[in-house]
Amino acid sequence: MFNPVLVHQTRSIRTILPLSKPFLHGNGNVFRQIQSSPSFKKGPKIRLGSVPSNSVKAMADTAVSNGVTAVVTVRPPINPLTAGGQVIDDVEDLFSKSLQLELVSAKDENKPTISGNAKIKGVVVKDCEVQYEAEFQVPVDFGEIGAILVVNEHALEMYLKDIVLDGLPSGLVTITCESWVQPNTSKDPRIFFTNKSYLPSKTPNGLQKLRYAELVNLRGNGEGERQKADRIYDYDVYNDLGDPDEDEELKRPVLGGKQHPYPRRCRTGRPHCKTDEASEERVPSKSLIPISPYVPRDEESRRLKETTFVIKGIVSDSCVSLNTKLESRICRHRWVSQTSQKIDKLFREGVKIKDAEFWKSLLPGFVEEIKDIGDFFLRFTSPETFKRDRFFWFRDEEFSRQTLAGLNPYSIRLIAEWPLKSTLDPEIYGPPESAITTELIEKEIGGMISVEEAIKQKKLFILDYHDLFLPYVEKVRQLKSTTLYGSRTIFFLTPAGTLRPIAIELTRPPMNGKPQWKQVFLPSWHSTECWLWKLAKAHVLAHDAGYHQLVSHWLNTHCCTEPYVIATNRQLSVMHPIYRLLDPHFRYTMEINGLARQALVNADGIIESSFSPGKYSMEFSSVAYDKQWRFDHEALPKDLISRGLAVEDPSAPHGLKLTIEDYPFANDGLDLWDAIKQWVTDYVNHYYPDKSLVESDEELQAWWTEIRTVGHGDKKHEPWWPVLKTPKDLIEIITTIVWVTSGHHAAVNFGQYTYGGYFPNRPTTARCNIATEDPSDEQWKFFLEKPENALLNTFPSQIQATKVMAILDVLSTHSPDEEYLGKEIEPAWREDPVINAAFEKFRGKLMELEGIIDARNADPKLRNRNGAGMVPYELLKPFSEPGVTGKGVPYSISI
Ligand SMILES: [Fe+2]
Repeated sequence: MFNPVLVHQTRSIRTILPLSKPFLHGNGNVFRQIQSSPSFKKGPKIRLGSVPSNSVKAMADTAVSNGVTAVVTVRPPINPLTAGGQVIDDVEDLFSKSLQLELVSAKDENKPTISGNAKIKGVVVKDCEVQYEAEFQVPVDFGEIGAILVVNEHALEMYLKDIVLDGLPSGLVTITCESWVQPNTSKDPRIFFTNKSYLPSKTPNGLQKLRYAELVNLRGNGEGERQKADRIYDYDVYNDLGDPDEDEELKRPVLGGKQHPYPRRCRTGRPHCKTDEASEERVPSKSLIPISPYVPRDEESRRLKETTFVIKGIVSDSCVSLNTKLESRICRHRWVSQTSQKIDKLFREGVKIKDAEFWKSLLPGFVEEIKDIGDFFLRFTSPETFKRDRFFWFRDEEFSRQTLAGLNPYSIRLIAEWPLKSTLDPEIYGPPESAITTELIEKEIGGMISVEEAIKQKKLFILDYHDLFLPYVEKVRQLKSTTLYGSRTIFFLTPAGTLRPIAIELTRPPMNGKPQWKQVFLPSWHSTECWLWKLAKAHVLAHDAGYHQLVSHWLNTHCCTEPYVIATNRQLSVMHPIYRLLDPHFRYTMEINGLARQALVNADGIIESSFSPGKYSMEFSSVAYDKQWRFDHEALPKDLISRGLAVEDPSAPHGLKLTIEDYPFANDGLDLWDAIKQWVTDYVNHYYPDKSLVESDEELQAWWTEIRTVGHGDKKHEPWWPVLKTPKDLIEIITTIVWVTSGHHAAVNFGQYTYGGYFPNRPTTARCNIATEDPSDEQWKFFLEKPENALLNTFPSQIQATKVMAILDVLSTHSPDEEYLGKEIEPAWREDPVINAAFEKFRGKLMELEGIIDARNADPKLRNRNGAGMVPYELLKPFSEPGVTGKGVPYSISI
């Protein structure tokens, strides 16, 4: 596999150690530099002259030294123009230059380090990896190797995969790098610690300064514009969504701060807009090379997910936004005056497109050429829901089932108080009392039970999109081709354990000189009321689709996780065990969030142009953050309790009694939660055997303080933040973060095409007022004569629907290199036998969960996941094949 090239170090190299440590060259020279600052500023380097006699002896006498070989594995740069292919950019550079290495003793900071020159040894053809080799003589009293310093002499940055040291008395030592190392033109050497984890207080003497210095490096100084090669993690507000310099209409409020509380994002330091000092300039997208906003270099996915690449490609495809690009590439048709068969045609015949090559790159396999006429058509794959039952979207039982086992299982709540009442200011929004009265509900539940008794028995549930949406109704209605209501939907839990929707209330606040308008719609056996019910349902689904995308998905997973990533890199050393526990859960999240800011949640992006809050979408998510988000409620058990879907019960499985026993998301989710919690418990207890170690861990305390007071600083005064004093506190906090990045995200992400791909099931917006709201005679006549067209007019336009379908397909796709929770062990975990065993137990639990979920889906008694034409609930099955599978739980939020 390798060329048998022996590497000898014959030439002297300059020191690369920036600290006070002296170093011992591999050929026996000893150098000492005078510099005590841990800040990596270069100081004068003074060669001390003659080699101490004991060092010479050490090198000459093999009895007191070990010959050690270091093999460095490097992955070549990716050429972004080869669509994920890997190329070695500069062969001459690769073979003529070297890597300088310096071994650092863990035990003593005054121990001379040992330097070596690693030359290329060979190429692993299969993985296109390059290996370098250096040899060292390591004195036996050198002690354990604690770190390696690396200087890249090449002209290009290099991606170091790992360094393996062979020949030490302790056996092979692997240093997992997985990091870009920049050319050493102006940068200081990189520090790579071994895979052994240490709490700060247990850090060996020889590594303490390096540990601190590396954290200082990663924090930066909060100044200047970040460059692509930087590795600096810092915070900023969301002030880069708008583009006021391009068009005043594209100005958006700053999210983050008192007026619009929001989590923080990664600071890029880009210049501010000429027309609005509060806004940051957009990243220009004028190049064929993908451009995304700055993220620290190692946050960019090395093994580029195909899907990420697609988004990058779209972003960079030309200098217009993704939104505009997509629109310009779809031939314009409206659903108006057409039948629903036209929607089905998207799957049977497809929609005519203008630029086949573009679409082929975006959705390979979906583009077909009709040879006779030379036209290209984009034909979508039928979502699994549609394949199994073409009418699934039309049925009420499926509508309610999806609140428990669909794409947004996070909104359904128990009704605990009656009558329903708004908390909004009646002076502005009109009378707060709901029009859903006791009489209406009792009529619908057939006299079986009184409302009072139904509430007592926990039989009434609600999708409550009233108070959150109502303040936006007037503003959204001023936008083109759209409308909005506040809504409440009531469900009754049947004796069979399924939900039945029994009432929908739509509300418009006082506006344009008209008083508040609200109406209750009920299921009926009369055609007029039946169609009105369908129309009301379309509005509720648009609210649910908007809430799902902006709150359950974007805000509560992608956006709220970014501060955890930043704080972890700024406050926890890479050798901290909690850093190593969290690291796989944060992979590529900052990158996908940056791309989302660039192309999805930006002004006039896909979300604004296609989802119900329109241009107020992100502001709406800020309101949800302000009014609803609590860290403690992000834990699944507490979330369920907060929504009245569970109560604590020490005798029940998971310690919880579910209000709806067959609640597929909760049933599978709690099993997954427990598996994660056990793994985290085993891990934390191993590194914190003594309770007091948590409180005395200064890195950990700084990490948690920064998350609470900076990353989520707009919520810093909330009383619900968990304290962090004991291992138990730490286990709950870490389990919550791991759940959000894995189970929570998977539950709301990977079913997007399955449930949203056939858009009548989840219209992302509703474009027309319901037929009974102040209709003209003509409008009412149109509804009576063509109710189906009234529904089609309410649905998203063909352009809106097609671009949402395209993006949902991309976002629902697992790439071939997806990293599933518990599938592959992290190298640092493997090295500790206790952690290795705990991980194997965790993996076993997840494998078991696969079988449990399959068995549940096969059980006809579980009527919310098993039935004719029903898609089984698999979103929390841990593993998956690549593609749109509707299952699989990755470690991290990377799409
Ligand atoms: Fe996502």
